[in-house]
Amino acid sequence: MTSPQKKTIFSGIQPSGTLHIGNYLGAIKQWVRLAADNTGYFCIVDEHAITVPYEPKDMPERILNLAATYLAAGINPDQSIVFVQSHVAAHTELAWLLMTTTPFGELARMTQFKDKSKQLSKKNKAGLPAIASAESGATAGLFGYPVLMAADILLYQTRIVPVGEDQVQHIELARDIAQRFNNRFGEVFTIPEAKINNNTARIMSLSDPTKKMSKSDNTKSYIALTDSPDEIKIKIMSAVTETDPVFSFTKSGPAVKNLLTIYQAFSDEEPSAIEAKFNGKGYKEFKEALAQLVINQLSPLQQEYKKLRQSDDELRIMLGRGKHHAEQFANTTLRDVKEKMGLL
Ligand code: TYM
Repeated sequence: MTSPQKKTIFSGIQPSGTLHIGNYLGAIKQWVRLAADNTGYFCIVDEHAITVPYEPKDMPERILNLAATYLAAGINPDQSIVFVQSHVAAHTELAWLLMTTTPFGELARMTQFKDKSKQLSKKNKAGLPAIASAESGATAGLFGYPVLMAADILLYQTRIVPVGEDQVQHIELARDIAQRFNNRFGEVFTIPEAKINNNTARIMSLSDPTKKMSKSDNTKSYIALTDSPDEIKIKIMSAVTETDPVFSFTKSGPAVKNLLTIYQAFSDEEPSAIEAKFNGKGYKEFKEALAQLVINQLSPLQQEYKKLRQSDDELRIMLGRGKHHAEQFANTTLRDVKEKMGLL
């Protein structure tokens, strides 16, 4: 499917609940732009989502919701390959093979593993569901998570991985894994590169601008893609700000800078035009304009999402096609890897 000018793009999101505008601005918006001129693989990474406690009965719905979100946000399944990670067995198989080449110490350095295992250990102490040792709460699956992510990327000879900033360390590891493999066993893998959008790589929480926006925080700290106009308005009006109204991408404090960044990302206006527009105005006026902008920009996505969620069947058929395409490519890479590793 890849012509010489086209690059292969791969990215994924975990079906672990509501998506927020951080996911949209940091990741999905970039995907849509890149997918127009390249070969895009957009995966629903369900095998990553099960590395922390979850409710099995909710998972099928979450997977379909996420597939509908990809499409509603502008991914065209006739141009790109949209599929579910667990439908393509090559992902876990390659992950195992790469696990045998990945030093334990490299995985132990991953900041997301450290953060997530800390959170799990707190939850376990609070009596919430434990899935592993009561002491750490972290499973071997959570530890090996970045290797599965490397397998996702490397199976498709990916050049570009559009993500938010929190995933860059994982992609650096995928590069190291690929380079080490190529040196030890012979050239198989393309070396991937992370692509972050500098402005929106890290959208911050509305209630605490020192933390990134995250669905695991309180609901007022993020705007979900499915929030109603009223919810969006309430959340933006109650977002924290600094004391004096200064609307400057360089001189404002972190809370206002974050709101300005969200304004810029949704409006695509020049920063200087936005600064001029709100110069001398108060926070109330700015926040009202921001809320209206976010409501207007999310509205087409929300309408399309509702339409797509009316039928599971069409989404399942689309995912079946995605599986078929992805599997063909992935199995070719996997065969090559096994041969190079000397497996009979
Ligand atoms: P996940 O599901 O946590 O997040 C999905 C995407 O959203 C980005 N993101 C943000 N961007 C800007 N500001 C924020 N506050 C913010 N929060 C989240 C993330 O950086 C990500 O791009 N490990 C991945 C999923 C994955 C993957 C892959 C990604 C699995 N295999 C292969 C790329 C390639 C993850 O947990 O994303």
